[in-house]
Amino acid sequence: MGKDLSKVETTFYFCDGGSCRKAGSDLPLRSARAYLRNAQLWENTHTVRTRCNGRCEDAPTCIVQPGNYWYKHLDTVNVVDIIQSHIDEEKPVSAHLIFQDGWEQMQSEKERPAAKDSFFVEKEDAELGQVFMARGFTSDQYTYPLLVFLMSHKEHVSITKPCGTTLSFSNLQHFEYVDTYKAKLQWEETNFEITLGLVPKTEPLDLQQSKVSVTDFFYSEQKRGVRFKNKLGKHLATLMFEPENTAIWDYCLKVQLNMLSGERIAER
Ligand code: FES
Repeated sequence: MGKDLSKVETTFYFCDGGSCRKAGSDLPLRSARAYLRNAQLWENTHTVRTRCNGRCEDAPTCIVQPGNYWYKHLDTVNVVDIIQSHIDEEKPVSAHLIFQDGWEQMQSEKERPAAKDSFFVEKEDAELGQVFMARGFTSDQYTYPLLVFLMSHKEHVSITKPCGTTLSFSNLQHFEYVDTYKAKLQWEETNFEITLGLVPKTEPLDLQQSKVSVTDFFYSEQKRGVRFKNKLGKHLATLMFEPENTAIWDYCLKVQLNMLSGERIAER
């Protein structure tokens, strides 16, 4: 029989994402479950594994609800202290908290610096000629939204495949993820798959090497666009935006490159 949720008063969400697993998240989870079982707290509590909850620098992490308490650096001992404190005393363990409701700042010793601003640099590119070019982000948290945005701004957009074939977005019918890693652009007569999701090293090499690992945003007087390459520098696709479509370029600058005040060019 499944968990009777009507009896659950406290839920512990243990992160089971890649960074937390690497930091040994299984051990505190097992320790927590053993403690809850043996202390006869099983009925009134629930433990749930989650995917990455966005605080990898503090791995292993968990969240306690109600109260929105976020914990860091869990181990087999402090996790029991945390459970006891929440259940027996109805209060958090401050020493291990990253965040709780009402705080204005997080407590993390390993906070990563914000991503650096992007700049365009003028260069002579073997394929594109003389252009200004800026490096974008390559995680699918950026590349997938870019293609979703283009689905709603399809005019004056095209994509060129590695074979040189260019397809217009104006008659593009559909775009979606077709499996964990690949997204498919679908036209009536043809389709084009592109690997956006992070491919683990356990997957076949050709799949790993099909992942978009370089995004170059470029412009010149005649052209604007984005070029995707794999980690070996092999061309995967180039998106071209005709100058009429100013909404796309504004979106690229603000959302993809975080250039809130327009195109910025590196000083030389
Ligand atoms: S993998 Fe656990 S917070 Fe990211």
